[in-house]
Amino acid sequence: SPPPCLGWLGCPGFSGHAGDLTEASLSHAGPLNVLLIIVDDLRPSLGCYGDKAIRSPNIDQLASRSLLFQNAFAQQAVCAPSRVSFLTGRRPDTTRLYDFNSYWRVHAGNFSTIPQYFKENGYVTMSVGKVFHPGISSNYSDDSPYSWSFPPYHPSSEKYENTKTCRGPDGQLHANLLCPVDVADVPEGTLPDKQSTEQAIRLLEKMKTSASPFFLAVGYHKPHIPFRYPKEFQKLYPLENITLAPDPQVPAGLPPVAYNPWMDIRQREDVQALNLSVPYGPIPVDFQRKIRQSYFASISYLDTQVGHLLSALDDLQLTNSTIIAFASDHGKHFQIPW
Ligand SMILES: *[C@@H]1O[C@H](CO)[C@@H](O)[C@H](O)[C@H]1NC(C)=O
Ligand SMILES: *[C@@H]1O[C@H](CO)[C@@H](O)[C@H](O)[C@H]1NC(C)=O
Ligand SMILES: *[C@@H]1O[C@H](CO)[C@@H](O)[C@H](O)[C@H]1NC(C)=O
Ligand SMILES: *[C@@H]1O[C@H](CO)[C@@H](O)[C@H](O)[C@H]1NC(C)=O
Ligand SMILES: *[C@@H]1O[C@H](CO)[C@@H](O)[C@H](O)[C@H]1NC(C)=O
Repeated sequence: SPPPCLGWLGCPGFSGHAGDLTEASLSHAGPLNVLLIIVDDLRPSLGCYGDKAIRSPNIDQLASRSLLFQNAFAQQAVCAPSRVSFLTGRRPDTTRLYDFNSYWRVHAGNFSTIPQYFKENGYVTMSVGKVFHPGISSNYSDDSPYSWSFPPYHPSSEKYENTKTCRGPDGQLHANLLCPVDVADVPEGTLPDKQSTEQAIRLLEKMKTSASPFFLAVGYHKPHIPFRYPKEFQKLYPLENITLAPDPQVPAGLPPVAYNPWMDIRQREDVQALNLSVPYGPIPVDFQRKIRQSYFASISYLDTQVGHLLSALDDLQLTNSTIIAFASDHGKHFQIPW
């Protein structure tokens, strides 16, 4: 019997009222496919969550025909533990992972994952991009072979994410935080999320004629730092229109342990050039605006990738037989100091 559609975004036929759900989702004969889209560091800066400044038409359109969660929480605001938590359906207290440094099957318990459950029940399960966090937290294999029918796919251009591919005002290439690029100009002439979309579409094409249903997880890298995205998306967010964090000051009496000195952005060349003092030195207001501009532009770039993927699903006439779920691993704080 098909897995229940309840609780998933994009249940086929679901038009926004819980009472509609059962009949519509059961009208499809046979098991439904699953397309799980996971995004990295996307807070709800989206039109569908009421943020009028953000251009996210494709995600908004998906939301408009979906169940949109208004009260959902990341179990831990760090990639690896959040992903392990929702992919095993267990809290970090159970997976015993709060950071990056252990594999739950060895360290906590041999818990099944959502894709593993589908795989063990006749589905072809496939991972594209960043689904599990790489490294020891998924045993350097994205939890293969347990979770996936085939070796997971990783875009080849991912290796350039932190290298000198961002052209600065000096005309030289740098490893920057802010990295709007001319895609034709970067190594391999492409970006990781573009490659992931292309691979996901190739897999959907193969699955169109498959006798088995599929579970396809597509993990996008943006809007995680560095903000390396096609430069045309920057124009959507003129600097003069970018608002600043409403409450940018470090609160008086804040315990040091509660403060994040954002070491992850300080090591970028463009941030280093600002000579910020550690740990509390403020980021210049102009640069705060540029960070926010590039975060928002990265979201719009991500949104076009989601649009391409969902159009392909439509073109292949798979939308009616596919449950679409869309989730971020956690948000992004823009309070102190950006
Ligand atoms: C963990 O679970 C998998 C899949 O159910 C199984 O193949 C494996 O033998 C288990 N490992 C241990 C140590 O129990
Ligand atoms: C983790 O990966 C290693 C190397 O491939 C493998 O020997 C080991 O069995 C894996 N751990 C589990 C729990 O499957
Ligand atoms: C920028 O702000 C101005 C004034 O509010 C507005 O007219 C314009 O449409 C905005 N531009 C964008 C791209 O949002
Ligand atoms: C940062 O420090 C370097 C070396 O002292 C100096 O050349 C540069 O102008 C400083 N940059 C800013 C933005 O203050
Ligand atoms: C998908 O379902 C809708 C509503 O039930 C129906 O109108 C449409 O023709 C279906 N499309 C395909 C390609 O099956």
